[in-house]
Amino acid sequence: MSKDPLVVFTPSGKRGHFPVGTPVLTAARQLGVDLDSVCGGRGICSKCQITPSYGEFSKHGVTVADTALSEWNAVEQRYDDKRGLKPGRRLGCQATIQSDVVIDVPPESQVHKQVVRKAASARVIEMDPATRLFFIEVEEPDMHSPTGDFERVKRALADQWDITGVTADLPILTKLQPVLRKGNWQITVALYRDHASDQSKIINLWPGLYEDGIYGLAIDLGSTTVAAHLTNLVTGEVVESSGLMNPQIRFGEDLMSRVSYAMMNKNGDQEMTRAVRDAINTLAVDIAQSAELSPHQILEIVFVCNPVMHHLLVGVDPVELGQAPFALATSDAMHLSARDLDLTDLLATTQCYILPCIAGHVGADAAAVALSEEPDKSDDLVLIVDVGTNAELLLGNKTRVLACSSPTGPAFEGAQISSGQRAAPGAIERIEIDPTTKEPRFRVIGCDLWSDEDGFDAATASTGITGICGSGIIEAVAELRIAGLMDENGLIGSPEATGTPRSVAEGRTYSYVIHDASAQGGPKITVTQGDIRAIQLAKSALYAGARLLMDEMDIDAVDRVVLAGAFGAHISAKHALVLGMIPDVTLDKVQSAGNAAGTGARIALCNVAARTRIEQTVRNITKVETAIEPKFQDHFVAANAIPHKTAPFAHLRSIVELPQVSFNTGGGDDGARRRRRRG
Ligand code: FES
Repeated sequence: MSKDPLVVFTPSGKRGHFPVGTPVLTAARQLGVDLDSVCGGRGICSKCQITPSYGEFSKHGVTVADTALSEWNAVEQRYDDKRGLKPGRRLGCQATIQSDVVIDVPPESQVHKQVVRKAASARVIEMDPATRLFFIEVEEPDMHSPTGDFERVKRALADQWDITGVTADLPILTKLQPVLRKGNWQITVALYRDHASDQSKIINLWPGLYEDGIYGLAIDLGSTTVAAHLTNLVTGEVVESSGLMNPQIRFGEDLMSRVSYAMMNKNGDQEMTRAVRDAINTLAVDIAQSAELSPHQILEIVFVCNPVMHHLLVGVDPVELGQAPFALATSDAMHLSARDLDLTDLLATTQCYILPCIAGHVGADAAAVALSEEPDKSDDLVLIVDVGTNAELLLGNKTRVLACSSPTGPAFEGAQISSGQRAAPGAIERIEIDPTTKEPRFRVIGCDLWSDEDGFDAATASTGITGICGSGIIEAVAELRIAGLMDENGLIGSPEATGTPRSVAEGRTYSYVIHDASAQGGPKITVTQGDIRAIQLAKSALYAGARLLMDEMDIDAVDRVVLAGAFGAHISAKHALVLGMIPDVTLDKVQSAGNAAGTGARIALCNVAARTRIEQTVRNITKVETAIEPKFQDHFVAANAIPHKTAPFAHLRSIVELPQVSFNTGGGDDGARRRRRRG
């Protein structure tokens, strides 16, 4: 048995024997213990902090003497004087092993620390970013053995960090010489590891030890909004989140109209590319400024986006995405330099990673949802719905995952709805209709009170009641059905048939008045027959997409439904089921994942292995194309009824009574005819 002292590391439990005098950092490295170091053991970065434990450890079978580690040395003292070390902490590169010892590695000293995601989710992101910092001492040039400065930088990385094959682009080479001399031949380099080639590239460098932090941007590039999370690449902490409207809206509200703009206008695609890149530049500069950082500290950007935005971002004309067979220029993940995307000089050496696309209508945003929600690891059969202008759907479990997109149009976002508006203060977001009195009560964004509660008028005086947002219109239509004011075909009854003056005639159809402030010069907020048609088209497309995936999987029910997307977070499960937006499941099996695409982008930013994983997962996802599938139309027509013409929705009917009413006076269409659209 070895006479050398035993070293036990916690929390990993890794253990081994090492000769007296071995630095703790060396022992950690040899055992594969996750202990950070930027300066390579020179005692200047303090990333290697550890906490030795003393006394009896029967669990580990060791007794740790007070002298188990070497004495506190001058380097530690200097660091403590300058920056302060927490009581009990030592620098792992300075303290050496003298006898058996138990050593704890605190989370701050772990490279692969775990960052807890949202409180609602038990999952964590393990930090393993593509970009890391390394401090090196570079040999000075010598006339007698002439070599270039960069060659000596490479040699230093190989000798001091065992990293070989390093490259650097021109902007780095141009700043190398002054930085080396300013740092007196000691520099910190930021190395970006390309997971596909396993090659490392220097993407920034600073004289001496660089301690100001490195950051990345996770960008969710949507058709309507561009959202960014500025993330610390060492801790994983999101230090700032920001967003702006996608300036391409001026070229067309939805994706298809942007593709048409590219088709009809010479250089139209380039105009849109310029617009979105300008927006990203503005966002990067603004977000750095509000976090009191320099944009130079943003070393990486991860993008997730739908296929049309993807092509416009990278500068590919999206025209092929507007017509069958909807061919992508490439569905692979992309590694680019910010210079390739013509981003601001402030991001000159920033590396960009774009997640892979799944298919011509199922983009990198859906891949990001898959990365975040992991349907491929699910035991039960989960349907994930990312509701936006285009709904993207994933269905699967450990065995198989399918994906498709469905042309829902913008009705779920409150667009094309007579009183529709963005989710903003003053918008009706919740509504209930009393089945007996047929009277509504509602809540607006920015006020916690219901409209029939004391204080509501005063509380909403500043915002007013301005319209109805996406989640509000879903609840309104579902409540009309529950209250017996609208039949299963989506027809609103007359005042005589429904017994309420809130039903008002508009031409040959009827509308339901939720709120009327027209006498005071305010808005009259109604749900019209046209609004119901728009919602029917959207929900039928969504359900038909889900049903098509279920057919492909040869199943009639799913175990669980996850609603993703900012809008998904606000949809009431009960109302979504009454409407028949999603297949019938029990209420507790409808979950909200919040902005899963944004979370997926953050995961890919913080963990380089996740990039390999999602690239692999996407290759294994079966794509189902709704546009060419004849059964889509059949499913669509059957889904036009509320909740559904043929599917029993037994779970739903066990908790909600849906009155058997019919307001068809003949002559009305059944809502089945529709124009197929994308966007
Ligand atoms: Fe940098 Fe110990 S490794 S201070």
